[in-house]
Amino acid sequence: MNDVSEIRATLQTVTARPKDRPMTMPGKFYTDPDYFEWEMQTVLKSGWHCLGRTGEIPEPGDYFTVQLFNEPLIVVRGDDHKVRVLANVCRHRGMPLAEGKGNAKRFVCSYHAWAYGRDGGLLRAARMDNAGFDAKSCRLHEFNTVIWNGFVYINLDKGAPSFLESAEELNGLLENYRPDTFRVVHVAEEIWNTNWKCLVENFMEGYHLSVVHPQTLHGYTPTGLARKSVSGPGFTSYAANYPEGIPSRGLGSPDLTEEERKRSTLFAVFPTQVTSQAASLLVSISIFPLNAGQIRVKWTMSVHGDDLDDETIEQRIALWSEVNREDREKLERMQVALNSAHAVSGPLAGDDLEGTIRDFQLWLAERDLAMDPQPHAAE
Ligand code: FES
Ligand SMILES: [Fe+2]
Repeated sequence: MNDVSEIRATLQTVTARPKDRPMTMPGKFYTDPDYFEWEMQTVLKSGWHCLGRTGEIPEPGDYFTVQLFNEPLIVVRGDDHKVRVLANVCRHRGMPLAEGKGNAKRFVCSYHAWAYGRDGGLLRAARMDNAGFDAKSCRLHEFNTVIWNGFVYINLDKGAPSFLESAEELNGLLENYRPDTFRVVHVAEEIWNTNWKCLVENFMEGYHLSVVHPQTLHGYTPTGLARKSVSGPGFTSYAANYPEGIPSRGLGSPDLTEEERKRSTLFAVFPTQVTSQAASLLVSISIFPLNAGQIRVKWTMSVHGDDLDDETIEQRIALWSEVNREDREKLERMQVALNSAHAVSGPLAGDDLEGTIRDFQLWLAERDLAMDPQPHAAE
């Protein structure tokens, strides 16, 4: 059996265990380059990936660029206000059309000046002396896109399952917060030397909160108050409850109950988005896997209305930058150790603290089998 087959078989074995005897996956799951390639062709390629917030591009012509695996993308708001995700690849000879972010009336290629509209249609191509040239057939490719709660998702695989097929429970959990109305106040990108699944698991478990974040999070969301919340096909969540008597962090939506105001809801939309929803603050991380041991992290912070003044927003950005630094430091050191022959499968904590990791394993195992039902036969 090769390494990929062995890891796939281990994933099935681990997830077949009884719920009260959960186990971690061995280090290879997070470090093996061939297994990463397998994931690229299966669970990652067929997944819905969050690229950012619609609020990053509020006006027609506003755009940002992003790279998802091999695909350079332009996320742009059209004259019809619709958000589209277009291939950032010129239909002439393949030059990228845009960089960074900005506002464009049209996207003019820097190589031979073909010009595309905000909807990806080719508007102009000078000096094209070619009897077979048809401008209409030279549109930029438009990707399958879903907007959910103000987040932009795309899927690279036309045959993929639909986005969050049965997420009523997750929608119910978030509904009163009105995440769609939150406005973006901060966007940042970093490269982290960790496996993509390690960041999903790290963000989604409350076990480490008081240990890794003693100054930044422990006071608000201590490990001891973490409780598993709803999960389903393609998502999981937990509640990071606040201790009694903690000062309010902004009221948030008028629809919220007192109970909802007293916790942060951390949820993952598998495979690559992890998010913390609080009354007035919404922090989301999109993970862009680069190789088995490296990811690009894009994180956004959004706030509810005018709940927080500018100074408080600056403090929150600084706080979350520090929280991310604390997590990154742990994950980058762990990634090195996960290469060890002794990074073997071990016990996970119970449902409230690490049940979300088991949910993630179960989803990965299910997707793995759906993509190829014979793990032992894989080469
Ligand atoms: S590659 Fe874009 S115009 Fe030639
Ligand atoms: Fe953390």
